[in-house]
Amino acid sequence: MQHQPGSAPPVQMGQTVRMLLTEIDHVAIAVRDLEAAIDYYQRAFGATVDHREVVESDGVEEALLKVAESYVQLLTPTRDDSPVAKAIEKRGEGLHHIGYRVADCAEALAAMVAAGATPIDAAPRPGSRGTTVAFMHPKGSFGTLIELVQE
Ligand code: CO
Repeated sequence: MQHQPGSAPPVQMGQTVRMLLTEIDHVAIAVRDLEAAIDYYQRAFGATVDHREVVESDGVEEALLKVAESYVQLLTPTRDDSPVAKAIEKRGEGLHHIGYRVADCAEALAAMVAAGATPIDAAPRPGSRGTTVAFMHPKGSFGTLIELVQE
């Protein structure tokens, strides 16, 4: 695209967006048996559950194990039609998504869309433990389901 004199200069990818990620919020692991997974992390690492919650809207129950300022999130479906149930059915247990902590979920969502990401959530919505979140489709994000998390 030719730069027209008098108009705004073309956006340089990666140069105009300041760093928006403040922390890895959580790494989410989909499991069939939440109790067994918690027990395993306790026996293997001495990890304890910092927070536990059923998120009805997503059809999941999660257990958060704190690691420094981040979490390992063990995630299990609470019903057969939940996205996590479908993921386990399709790919088995394992890494499900990564949660990137940001100061402003709406701002980060807009920046990701501008960079070519495909949003699953068109606008920020409530997540677990009082957070505000937005999910982005793996397609367009190098095969990784990304969750933006604002505390
Ligand atoms: Co998550």
